[in-house]
Amino acid sequence: MRIAILSPEAVPFAKVGGLADVSSALNKALRADGVDSLLILPLYDSIDRSRLKVFDEELGLFWRSKAPRIRVWQSDELAAPTYFIDAPHYFHRGKIYGDGDDHERFAFFCRAAIALIRRLDKPIDVLHCNDWQSGFASVEMKRLRGHDEFFARTKILFSIHNLAYQGLFDPDDLWWLGFGDEKNEFLSNGAASALKAGAMTADALSTVSPRYAHEIQTREQGYGLDWLMRLRSNRLVGIANGVDYEIWNPETDPHLAANYSLDDLSGKRACKLDLLRRFGLPEEVERPIIAIISRLVAQKGYDLIRDAARAILDTGAFFIALGAGAPEYEDFLQSWHDVAPYRVGIYKGFAGEPLAHQIEAGADLFLMPSLYEPCGLNQMYSMRYGTVPVVRATGGLDDTVRNFDPSSGDGTGFKFHQYDAADMLEKIREGLYFYNQPEVWKRIQLNGMATDNSWSAAARKYIQLYQEMPGLR
Ligand code: ADP
Ligand code: GLC
Repeated sequence: MRIAILSPEAVPFAKVGGLADVSSALNKALRADGVDSLLILPLYDSIDRSRLKVFDEELGLFWRSKAPRIRVWQSDELAAPTYFIDAPHYFHRGKIYGDGDDHERFAFFCRAAIALIRRLDKPIDVLHCNDWQSGFASVEMKRLRGHDEFFARTKILFSIHNLAYQGLFDPDDLWWLGFGDEKNEFLSNGAASALKAGAMTADALSTVSPRYAHEIQTREQGYGLDWLMRLRSNRLVGIANGVDYEIWNPETDPHLAANYSLDDLSGKRACKLDLLRRFGLPEEVERPIIAIISRLVAQKGYDLIRDAARAILDTGAFFIALGAGAPEYEDFLQSWHDVAPYRVGIYKGFAGEPLAHQIEAGADLFLMPSLYEPCGLNQMYSMRYGTVPVVRATGGLDDTVRNFDPSSGDGTGFKFHQYDAADMLEKIREGLYFYNQPEVWKRIQLNGMATDNSWSAAARKYIQLYQEMPGLR
């Protein structure tokens, strides 16, 4: 089976959020199961070319009535061959997203990716699109395979990692982008939506947890597309993301002050001390640390944290936050740190991977009070690192964290249900109550560390999905 995965992000090359972790890890897991997968990314200016080699100097394609010749690079660093579309005009922006022409940039990326698949000269069974940035590819593939023998048996899977990001743009642009005939597929409440077009044209849809697959069929979480999710629900599955345990493993993690494992947790204390030092906090190792790592957007529940900021400090815990995003939340973190510099440690910005690993290892509790969460990765990283998640029971957080039950001793974290600061606080307090009972705490930590969220099970579900897609030989 040959699969081409299109993604705007993949570690270690370009990352804004969890999609980057998932793109690489899924590829690796598919390869391990014998799937002939490949990955196609844009070549951003942040990617170091000295790690890559040129694959093709002159990939030909048609774009906006011209026939540009595009350079394509290749890397063998990941388990699967990875190709990069080099178009400096579109991808040298000093950032991955955020100029007003993102729809044009990714429509181009999709056009070039399909030209590259043909250039590779071996038909693919499945084009696996991810998020709105590859919605254009789904539309184009559906059109092409009707008359192009090379793509005649290619099926399209469209994976939704976050329904709230729809890639909206002015429908008038559809004409010059080359999608004038597919206006209906794109149109959504008066705008053109790349995500909607992908979801309309793909043969199957997936999303990144079973619960989120249900949630996006409701008006509350459907972001205006719940009708489409319901309409296509017989083609929509939820497959929870996994964890790449070669990268996220406290036993072997090279970024940590000390390694530790399920059998010997003692190194975690050294990690905690190291974390306190990194954030300039007092070396009070007995005091619990609550941590969060996230994009600073409303999705991640920062409004609850802001509402509960004073009460969180009243619990006596340290709070450590790593995040980049909306100025209002960056300002909140700064002012919180300013009033309590010895209790609140912050890093505003996108840190390299090492700091995220050090926080996962050094913290005691990991907070994810998300308004919604398609899957979420940090709760799973936390569990592996013996750091106990406190989460809102939504999307993948609900699917992957088991609420601790003191009577049975089962559970890997603490879950609250309402999107409400008081409910969040109650669960934080409950967590801290058990933190002060070392034997119980260790039990919760070990329950989490022993939980298997590896990619192999998820990859097998994707393979089954690829195989069962209508018409695939
Ligand atoms: P999302 O994709 O919605 O951002 P996920 O939980 O799936 O949420 O994944 C977030 C990923 O991005 C994690 O690997 C997390 O460690 C990382 N991350 C988020 N913010 C930062 C940051 N400011 N610096 C470094 N890594 C970050
Ligand atoms: C999105 C979601 C997140 C998910 C990630 C990877 O960014 O917000 O919940 O884990 O994609 O699928």
